[in-house]
Amino acid sequence: MSSASPLALLGNLGYDVRAMSYARPNIEQMHGYVPGEQPKVPGLIKLNTNENPYPPSPKVFEALRAAVDERLRLYPDPQSLGLRQKLGRRFGFDPAQILIGNGCDDILNLCVRAFVGEGEKLAYFWPSYSLYPVLADIQGAQKIELPLDDQFQIRSVPSVAGVKLLFITQPNAPSGVWLHKEKLRDIIETMDGVVVVDEAYVDFASDNCLNFIGKYPNVLVARSFSKSSALAGMRLGWVVGPTELIGALDKVRDSYNVSRLSQLAGEAAIDDVPYFEETVRKVKATRERVRRQLEDWSFGVLPSETNFVFAKPPAPLTAKRWFDGLRERKVLVRWWDADRIRDFARVSIGTDKEMDKFLEATHETLR
Ligand SMILES: Cc1ncc(COP(=O)(O)O)c(C=O)c1O
Repeated sequence: MSSASPLALLGNLGYDVRAMSYARPNIEQMHGYVPGEQPKVPGLIKLNTNENPYPPSPKVFEALRAAVDERLRLYPDPQSLGLRQKLGRRFGFDPAQILIGNGCDDILNLCVRAFVGEGEKLAYFWPSYSLYPVLADIQGAQKIELPLDDQFQIRSVPSVAGVKLLFITQPNAPSGVWLHKEKLRDIIETMDGVVVVDEAYVDFASDNCLNFIGKYPNVLVARSFSKSSALAGMRLGWVVGPTELIGALDKVRDSYNVSRLSQLAGEAAIDDVPYFEETVRKVKATRERVRRQLEDWSFGVLPSETNFVFAKPPAPLTAKRWFDGLRERKVLVRWWDADRIRDFARVSIGTDKEMDKFLEATHETLR
């Protein structure tokens, strides 16, 4: 019997095997999501993926240590009930309105799978989180990009006729700006499809959109434990909304989509409110200090309600040269060679010591 591969056999039969693929055509054609670099360079100051510079609460470590035992052979609670109950109590929702995900990205993916069919419309503001178009491409959905204005705000209510799912990042990324809530309300009221307000950074803002839940039958709010709770490595996110929408997501998710340890880490993080508040307060204070210093040096800094700043250096320094200059000095920030945003770099807020080094390196690149 021949050991040749099926593709080789087809080639022998005269088919053009280079043109053949096992993947669906939209998967062949699309580009995958490019995450921020996780460098292995020792001593690098990492300000490129909006992680929390402070460790998770000590209560998280205690809970994890106590859980690392033979119970790891058992599957986790498929409903993540303990975590949903804690979130429900903390934010004033019924646990039936909450679903837990393997990171907020998992929640966003579930929303696309549950609410948008192939060829149907998925909309998002632009520039915004670059995962949305990737999720649309995976699904074979039609992408509707709604442009933000020069201040990265929504100028007028866009047409959303026929849109099955709209992602709104609040506060937005990578700009960091808070989108006017009245505008969001106007848009939601014209939407027939589902609106997902992606509040991954909202704990660094002074408002949120949780009061949309209960008011609108088509709105979900998605949250992350990666940023304000310093649990990016555990992969934990959640979504709250009407039980009908949550029920649809529940059918789509993996039955054991959140590990035993992640559930416990989330519960312990929620229990430690003082630690959470203190670390968020520190990040916000550092953010304001960094913003003031950059503005003193004539950088254009967008008003940030997140744990990062999006800043444009003064000419003749370009964002790319600023990014390169920082990297040479072992400070890693994020820069995209993309329309609308290539004049800016995004800088995650680190500890005060890290930000002093960042500012020192920035000052050197200005010279
Ligand atoms: C706007 C936005 N939404 C969601 C996420 C994903 O969060 P998670 O780490 O919980 O998957 C990110 C991560 O950077 C983000 O920037």
